[in-house]
Amino acid sequence: MSLNRITYASGAIALLSMMLVGCTHGGAPSETAETETPPAMVPTVYYSMTDIFQPAFQGYADTAFWVYNDEGELDASGLTEEQWDTMTTSAKELKETALLFSKAQAIRVAEEGEELFNEGKGFIPSEAVQSVIDENPDGFRAMMAYLANESQTALEALEARDAAGISEASDNIYAACKSCHVAFWYPGRR
Ligand code: HEC
Repeated sequence: MSLNRITYASGAIALLSMMLVGCTHGGAPSETAETETPPAMVPTVYYSMTDIFQPAFQGYADTAFWVYNDEGELDASGLTEEQWDTMTTSAKELKETALLFSKAQAIRVAEEGEELFNEGKGFIPSEAVQSVIDENPDGFRAMMAYLANESQTALEALEARDAAGISEASDNIYAACKSCHVAFWYPGRR
């Protein structure tokens, strides 16, 4: 477990991570929790998508693009240490957040009154997304577990500095995002 190594923007989420890690023998979280934050909950889907998944996906996939050299050949030798770090941090964030959801009891789409991206422009509102998820929370958790798994594969490819594996994992992560969106978010569902 390395949940406590991620620094989330929100104190509430940091607190949650610590609580989860705390179960495994009080792994002495270094951060001090903000006591005024309300009881810890799994972040909303909306928050996670916009503030964690999207930037982390970009951090991984946009950087993974550079495993190809100018000749269009797979060759990771041009990547800087900073780029390796960006990919690794991003893949870890994807994995840890997806794992969190894969084990979440309650999955909440958004705070009350919060508008989703493109809501009303052909995209269903958060209440509708919520009921799609509530009909099949196990399916949602399974797709999160799948994303966590693909992110782990990415981490292994990074560890091995395996250009082909890194590129392939990028495609597979994208597919994991996409297949959940098709199942739980896109219009035409109802
Ligand atoms: C297990 C399901 C699931 C997976 C996996 C998933 N998403 Fe989502 N995503 C959703 C749902 C449901 C919504 C619609 C609700 C919302 O907008 O938050 C959504 C919405 C979004 C949005 C729009 C947020 C907004 O402004 O309303 C973005 C961006 C996004 N996802 C990015 C990603 C990326 C990038 C990945 C992969 C790294 C990913 N998602 C993986 C379920 C998932």
